Amino acid sequence: MAEKNIVVVMGGRSSEHEVSLMSAATVIENINTDIYNVIMVGITKEGQWKLVESVDKIRDGSWVKGHTQAMISPETGRNELCLIQGDKVERLHVDVVFPVLHGMNGEDGTLQGLLELAQIPYVGCGVLASACSMDKFYTKIIVDSIGIRQAKFVGVHRSELKEMDAVVSRVEKSLPYPVFVKPSKAGSSQGVGKAECREELIAALELAAKHDTKILVEENIVGRELECAVLGGADAKASGVGEILAADTFYTYEAKYNNAESKTVVDPELPEGKAEEIRRDAEAIFKALDCYGLSRVDFFLKEDTNEVVFNEINTLPGFTAISMYPMLWEARGLDKKALVQKLIDLAMVRYEG
Ligand SMILES: Nc1ncnc2c1ncn2[C@@H]1O[C@H](COP(=O)(O)OP(=O)(O)O)[C@@H](O)[C@H]1O
Ligand SMILES: [Mg+2]
Repeated sequence: MAEKNIVVVMGGRSSEHEVSLMSAATVIENINTDIYNVIMVGITKEGQWKLVESVDKIRDGSWVKGHTQAMISPETGRNELCLIQGDKVERLHVDVVFPVLHGMNGEDGTLQGLLELAQIPYVGCGVLASACSMDKFYTKIIVDSIGIRQAKFVGVHRSELKEMDAVVSRVEKSLPYPVFVKPSKAGSSQGVGKAECREELIAALELAAKHDTKILVEENIVGRELECAVLGGADAKASGVGEILAADTFYTYEAKYNNAESKTVVDPELPEGKAEEIRRDAEAIFKALDCYGLSRVDFFLKEDTNEVVFNEINTLPGFTAISMYPMLWEARGLDKKALVQKLIDLAMVRYEG
């Protein structure tokens, strides 16, 4: 047995539940088991916390039928994971938590809040950075304040859709078609749509409203999709740049996870100075949002003007075998094992500091 216990939390109530499971399997397989016993906790789509007995059970989905409840105690200083089966309770010491959850209740500061209450070290961004970065509306406000170019947008609240005509004319006054419509707290492109005309705009607004109360209608940016990984604490550094070649009209959920034609390229050919500009912007955005540990910062490179346009930030980016975040660091000589260890070390540095 190793000396320390790391708890990997996965699944969750968000629409990115399945992606989280794939990411978690990769993270788990790259934890140094000479140092850590890996304790796996899965959160079902309904929000139940369960002990996951093996990586195989993550892959075949059978962990959801498990009978052992696994709960992190919020009590300060207990550092305790309670395993409950019937009236039997086992208490395990928790040294560090690795949240591998994407989207709602995992990437948005809520789980991070529980870990702050419990004073348990954890990987990745804290409450403020997670909450702001998850919410595209608030991210825009902060990124605006440091003068980085973003898509123009019109903000819409779900309650305004009762007066759809007024919303449509407000959008049409500010932006030409096509426009992009997205829930403020989107993830994995769920609820994101492109609208070429008024009818499509209405349908896209109604779809986005199913995912969130705040909706963004954005200027359509025509250009390349580029991503940059950031890693570290106060002196966090950006990786090289990666490019997404989506096998669809845009980078939809299908294109991301189910279409083998979608490709990612590390260190693509870019116009002079653009890779440096993206890396600089990624580090500045990471800092402005008070990020810590890791984040992936996504941009467009506009086709007509070559402008770098910030799109969004992900504080718990995909970590599957083919995800951009680990790939960008592999290209910089940091393999997945070293990357996972670095992220855990950073969690300890923040806690001890
Ligand atoms: N303003 C925009 N102009 C052009 N394409 C966009 C725009 N916003 C989003 N997209 C496309 O939609 C995809 C998903 O949107 P994104 O903002 O990244 O949300 P998510 O958090 O779901 O990944 C992007 O990868 C891109 O392909
Ligand atoms: Mg995205």
